[in-house]
Formats: sequence, structure tokens, C-alpha cells
Amino acid sequence: MKVFKTSQSLAEYLSNETRPLGMVPTMGALHLGHLSLIERALQENQSVLISIFVNPTQFNDKNDLINYPNSIDEDLLQIEKISEKILVYLPKADDVYGNIVEAKSFDLAGLDQMMEGEKRSGHFQGVATVVAHFLKTFSPDRAYFGEKDFQQLLIIDHINRSLKLKTKIIGCPVVREKDGLAMSSRNSLLTADQRKQASKLFEGLQIAKSNAKKVPYRSLKIMVNAFFEKHNKITLDYFIIADPNTLKEIDLEQPVHQGRAFIAAYLGKIRLIDNLDMS
Ligand code: PAF
Repeated sequence: MKVFKTSQSLAEYLSNETRPLGMVPTMGALHLGHLSLIERALQENQSVLISIFVNPTQFNDKNDLINYPNSIDEDLLQIEKISEKILVYLPKADDVYGNIVEAKSFDLAGLDQMMEGEKRSGHFQGVATVVAHFLKTFSPDRAYFGEKDFQQLLIIDHINRSLKLKTKIIGCPVVREKDGLAMSSRNSLLTADQRKQASKLFEGLQIAKSNAKKVPYRSLKIMVNAFFEKHNKITLDYFIIADPNTLKEIDLEQPVHQGRAFIAAYLGKIRLIDNLDMS
């Protein structure tokens, strides 16, 4: 493992020998979901670049940024054990942003108008800013992102194409705990009781999937809402089934043959998201 604190030192190190280069952008607090991205990147590339950077411009809520889990020493230990082919980019904000830490403004083709974009104002402009910067600066041949953040994946794929960058964006399946909870760095912030309740997100998605072809989408919404009213230690923020390409909500009056269900819920102050293909 080689750790680089500046993009300049890393860019100088990259050469034909390190290509094809696979990149796994992260905000640290690595879990098995990240490890699955890293494993895939190692299989498909000569070297793998992991960035660990808690990007301030994608946090619409200051407390969320302050409380975001940080386990940098453990992260580096984990990475070291995986492979010596791994390069780690561990910058401070000024290396990424210069003196002014603010998001740029991208045309996100409306993909940021719903769900996480609607609930977390400016979040996806912050994500787009940092990811576009990484892709432009290091030109990885492939970059890997988890489908747990499906809306983010679509938005990154969109900016990558609209900026005509050369990276191939690769979405990887959600990695789940035994009880179905999607792996997320935020899971480490849950109390023991909240952790037990957290599997209800996936249960809600499964209720939708098992009834999707039988009843209109409107009835699925009623079922899922009723499920969360019964389990009131977890508060549903939204449940939406949308077209997986446009993220537009599907017709309420039809059963669901194709579509992806998206869910967000609160356990105390911790907000978790998940999604599941309904076809
Ligand atoms: O998914 C994440 O961890 C972040 O949003 C990303 C893609 C690393 C950008 O900061």
C-alpha cells in the first residue's frame, strides 16, 4: 500500500505501469460493501486507487458532517491486508478544493430533483464536484460505486458521460448484513436497539417486491406505510418506486413489472437509505 496526501504526488506516481487503474472513491469508515468494490477493482485492474475523503460540500446538515464516522487508522490497516497493489489518496480539503471549499454547479439532467436530491439540498452537486475532480485528475480506467446509493451512481454516470471523461463507471450490487440491512458507514452510529430495527428498511422493500406484480403501486405504498406505522421506532421518510433510468416515479394505478423501489428512514437522528429491483 502506498499513501499519497496530495494529488500532485499521486499524479506523478501514476504511469503506464499502473494502468489499467481502478478507482474506488470512499469517505472512509470502510465496511464489507467497500471491500467488495475493492476486490472487484483488484480483479479487473493492474492497480487500484482508493480515495478516503469526507467531502464537506455534500453534507447539507453540519451535524451529519461532524458526526460522520472516522476510522482512518483501521481503514489503512484493512487496506494494507488486502493488497500491496493498492494506492490510497488521503487528501485534506485544500488539496481537493484549493482555498474555497464549495460545490460547483452541474447540469444533473433532473436526476437530483427527487428522493435524496429533494431531501438533501445541494448534496448531489457536492458529490458531482468531488467525483468529477477525481475522475479528471487521475483518469482512472474504471471507477466503482455501490448500488446502495443508486441515485448517486446514476448521477455520477451522467456527469462522466456529459463531461466526456474516459472512465468506465461500474455499479456493484448492494452488500447486506445477514438480516438484510444494507452495509453503510452510518450503520456504526446506530445503538444496539436501532440496529435491530434497521433491518425493517429491507423488510419494507421485500413486502413491496413480493406484492409488486399483484396489486397497483398505490396499494404497495399503503402496505409499506402501514408496515412502518406498526413499527414506530423507525420513521419512514419516503418509499418510492421509480424508473431505474430516469428515477421518475412510476404509474400509481398499475402493478409494478419493472422499476426500482427506494426507501429512506430515520432511526433517531440516523438516516438510512436502501433500494431494491422490483422485476
Ligand atoms: O458514496 C460515497 O462514499 C461518496 O458520496 C463519494 C462517492 C465517495 C463522494 O464523496
